[in-house]
Amino acid sequence: MILLTGGAGYIGLHTAAVLIAAGHDVVLFDNFSNSKPLGVQRLEAIVGRPVPCVQGDVRSRQDMDGLFDQHTISAVIHFAGLKAVGESATQPLHYYDNNVAGTLVLLEAMMRAEVRRIVFSSSACVYGEPDSSPIPETAALRPANTYGRTKLMIEDILRDLHGAAPDWSIALLRYFNPVGAHPGGLIGEDPNGIPNNLMPFVTQVAVGRLAELQVFGGDYPTPDGSGVRDYIHVMDLAEGHQASLDWALRDPQQVLTVNLGTGCGYSVLDLVRAFEQASGQAIPYRIVARRAGDVPAYWGDASLARQRLGWTARRTLEDMCRDAWNWQRKNPQGFA
Ligand code: NAD
Ligand code: UFG
Repeated sequence: MILLTGGAGYIGLHTAAVLIAAGHDVVLFDNFSNSKPLGVQRLEAIVGRPVPCVQGDVRSRQDMDGLFDQHTISAVIHFAGLKAVGESATQPLHYYDNNVAGTLVLLEAMMRAEVRRIVFSSSACVYGEPDSSPIPETAALRPANTYGRTKLMIEDILRDLHGAAPDWSIALLRYFNPVGAHPGGLIGEDPNGIPNNLMPFVTQVAVGRLAELQVFGGDYPTPDGSGVRDYIHVMDLAEGHQASLDWALRDPQQVLTVNLGTGCGYSVLDLVRAFEQASGQAIPYRIVARRAGDVPAYWGDASLARQRLGWTARRTLEDMCRDAWNWQRKNPQGFA
């Protein structure tokens, strides 16, 4: 059985759908601090069978030991964490506690249960402002915010753990910008409050929940002046987890650090135009000042994941926009 911490969240649900379709048994573990039980019910509707889900907190030794006692776990995919960059600046202790301390409690429980395979949700923000794009995994690591520092600390903890316990198999996955939804429209991204991220903001404008998009910066040194990112379809990302899990289950007893991105950069205005085309909805927007802390442009070098995992992102920007819109159109208030 595969344990997905944070499995009721956006990427966790999509990964669970892909893993179950591929024949894996999974157990989800989540404290529902940023997700809802309805998401798990929707996952069950997609896969056509019950999916075990345990409510608990990765920071609780009791919860974690109970979980490993009750289930025979062969590997862990560790999604549980807080991810809002702005909030991480105002609540740093909460972020270090939840992300870093929570990971330590999980790893200690894995040690006790003799489970030695883990796939970890890192982030492209461990790179901070890169010297150039595409960014290879060997690029300098200089995260520019607290959230990114929690991810780098966890990577360091896992590298040190492997130094002391070389029989562990550890995949560190640096995601670029996940967007889109399962094609059936039953699950998707459902942020609390006003979205911080571009795609959910765009879909909420399209569905009439928000009046207009603010494009943060029109004077970047990019082809159209707006910021450029490597958007990746969440179903491609989920398949990247499947490939990483399969790698870990082969027991390579190594640390593998890979980017999960497409290798392509698109601007904010490229995404708005693609969304308008895919949805038939006009997205009113206004170009405003740059957002503090934003990097002008970056995208990942996706070649190592292809070489090591045989995985490559297949879905286009149009697919991402179509599926994000399909989800939002069918669920204008998300999982509410
Ligand atoms: P999400 O918030 O939808 O999912 C995370 C889940 O973890 C939520 O369901 C939340 O309730 C749960 N959780 C948080 N703290 C917990 C705790 N202490 N104990 C138990 N459960 C807890 O986020 P997501 O987009 O699915 O992201 C999953 C992971 O990927 C996170 O670690 C995130 O930092 C990382 N990541 C996300 C992105 C992105 O843009 N979405 C990019 C890079 C990395
Ligand atoms: N943007 C807007 N208007 C908005 C929201 C975003 O113009 O309302 C722009 C941003 O300025 C940026 C682009 O859209 O140019 C993407 O911004 P997001 O907030 O969607 O994503 P970020 O690239 O800032 O960061 C995201 C996640 C991080 C993760 C990182 C990995 O929020 O958690 O991708 O690359 F680490």
